[in-house]
Amino acid sequence: MSMLAAIRAPARRAAFVAAPRTTARSTMRASFRKYSTESTEPAKKSSNTLLYASLGGVALAGVGYYFYTSSSESSKQVGTAAKSAAQSVKVLANFVPTKEDYQKVYNEIAGILEENSEYDDGSYGPILIRLAWHSSGTYDKDTKTGGSNYATMRFEPEALHGVNRGLNIARSLQEKVKQKFPWISYGDLWTLGGVVAVQEMAGPKILWRPGRIDGYAKDATPDGRLPDASQGADHLRNVFYRMGFNDQEIVALSGAHALGRGHTDRSGFEGPWTFSPTTFTNNFYTLLLEEKWVWRKWGGPKQLQDKKTQSLMMMPTDYALTTDKNFKKYVKAYAEDQDLFFKDFSKAFSKVLELGVPVTQWVTSEPWILKTTEEQESK
Ligand code: HEM
Repeated sequence: MSMLAAIRAPARRAAFVAAPRTTARSTMRASFRKYSTESTEPAKKSSNTLLYASLGGVALAGVGYYFYTSSSESSKQVGTAAKSAAQSVKVLANFVPTKEDYQKVYNEIAGILEENSEYDDGSYGPILIRLAWHSSGTYDKDTKTGGSNYATMRFEPEALHGVNRGLNIARSLQEKVKQKFPWISYGDLWTLGGVVAVQEMAGPKILWRPGRIDGYAKDATPDGRLPDASQGADHLRNVFYRMGFNDQEIVALSGAHALGRGHTDRSGFEGPWTFSPTTFTNNFYTLLLEEKWVWRKWGGPKQLQDKKTQSLMMMPTDYALTTDKNFKKYVKAYAEDQDLFFKDFSKAFSKVLELGVPVTQWVTSEPWILKTTEEQESK
């Protein structure tokens, strides 16, 4: 197989069709869009209760609208309309998405991962993982600010932070899903996107549950909370300890760099870390240890390249995992044992995705495992 063919891992198309939507859902679509993206002022009460209550309110408004527009119709027709509108109110006010509803969102995201074969290595998976991680990794355990709860990357200046360059691609992609499932919060949608991408690219199952709510511009985090790839081990510890992670978890999470690539027009770094950037493997660690890495001579930021093929890269923070004694211990363990890596990555990534979400907001005490498209097809 040529290197290019190896990089463009086999396309695993998901043949999922979005479930048919009812008129009631179309009404909801408009109301939720307004609630979640257009409000800039904090509501007095922000919870799912408010979310569901606002739904009922919009439905009631719908009843009024129907009466207004139906004034010229016969009273019989109006009566029927009133009955059906009242029914809609009941349905909408009581609408609580189930695990099956979230599985439908999962399937929708899975279906668009490879819709554009021209994009990068043929999958939006890596950038969806990056969006999930960057929307969560802003957490500060001391001030309990940041994290995935409020999806504040929707707002400037957070959307424009240098580290988030390029993530508008992932947000736009997810916006298409949001239009189809307007009841999901952005925080839930973006983190679920990370879960879908890992699982669909042959990675481990990731425990996930809904409950994040959409926040406001005032909840946005300051620049500088996410890691700077040009730095070393101390910086990694400062940033990840602040979120509540330890050395083992830092190394496990870094293994996500088996996927995707650096882009000169985003971070400035260039190239993939592995030969299979759309398949989740422990190759980040095996390559780190087995290849000879040399500093690349070029006009871009300081990065390393593999001496043999000069087609792979490592950033200074990646390389620091092999020069720091304690980090290296885990790099070796994950290079030797892919199952261990999958297990530890899964645990740490779930933890990342839940950063900053108050326990009271979760709709279920036990996180869920959603099915891959492959599992559903084989039934
Ligand atoms: C350890 C500190 C980390 C640093 C300094 C870092 C930095 C970076 C940088 C500079 C890029 C290139 C972005 C671009 O040019 O498009 C990147 C890409 C990526 N990062 Fe990280 N990252 C870190 C941790 C993580 C974690 C914890 C995850 C997920 C668990 C992750 C997932 C990804 C993925 C999947 C990509 C590829 C994105 C794409 O192909 O568009 N990274 N990272």
